[in-house]
Amino acid sequence: MMTKFGSVFIQLASVDSTNNYAANLIQQGSCQDGSVIMADYQTMGRGQLGNSWQSVSAANLMFSIAFRPKYTLDEQIRLSWYSALIWQQCLLRFGLKAQIKWPNDIYLGKQKIGGILIEQQLKGAVLDWCILGCGINVNATPELAQATSIFQETGQKFKPLTVLTEYLDLLNGQQKLLYGDFLQLKGLYEEAMGFRNQLLQFEKKDGTSFSGTIVGVAPQGQLQIAVEGELQSFANQEIRFLLPLA
Ligand code: BTN
Repeated sequence: MMTKFGSVFIQLASVDSTNNYAANLIQQGSCQDGSVIMADYQTMGRGQLGNSWQSVSAANLMFSIAFRPKYTLDEQIRLSWYSALIWQQCLLRFGLKAQIKWPNDIYLGKQKIGGILIEQQLKGAVLDWCILGCGINVNATPELAQATSIFQETGQKFKPLTVLTEYLDLLNGQQKLLYGDFLQLKGLYEEAMGFRNQLLQFEKKDGTSFSGTIVGVAPQGQLQIAVEGELQSFANQEIRFLLPLA
């Protein structure tokens, strides 16, 4: 029943987006659960919330996994929590202590080292496929404020494939967490979240800002913030952190 992450491995020199490539494979009906698509370069890499994802040719890790979940739609958040947690464990193997910036950005201190874009395909009300897309800065730091890379942090260059191999090893090895007790997974995710226990500034969709303290996440994944002693929940599009974080 378990997925073999990396059961099929496709390596491309260039593609629009590995997430699109995975979606096409699924649509053709020829996709195997756990297939990995890696690219050296993306011409239209996508990030969360409609942002683009920059490519630096062959320097960084970009891949997608086509994954057939064995849980129901109401627990869809499992993959988001699990994939981010596994990045924390993976970066530890490279000597780096990462934290998760909700919902699933990977940070070292106040700088982003990678991000996750999950796209889902439903069949009626059934969660049929998930596409887990990851971009990790291995040898190059994008020209953005607040970004870093494994090379920038450690002074060592690694092949992107080496990092992917470690990530797949952990994804495969920890699957009991992915499918195990829901509250345990939620708790582990919360422990891995950064920027807790400090007063932060947030901005709402309507442009108003407020300060509050991150408490954790709701069972559907929303961010829970204590605002003047009152607990409030926000979905991903509803709120953003005001960076740089003081
Ligand atoms: C984010 O931080 O906003 C998420 C970034 C996700 C980028 C990866 S790179 C591989 C995969 N293909 C894409 O087009 N996006 C994801």
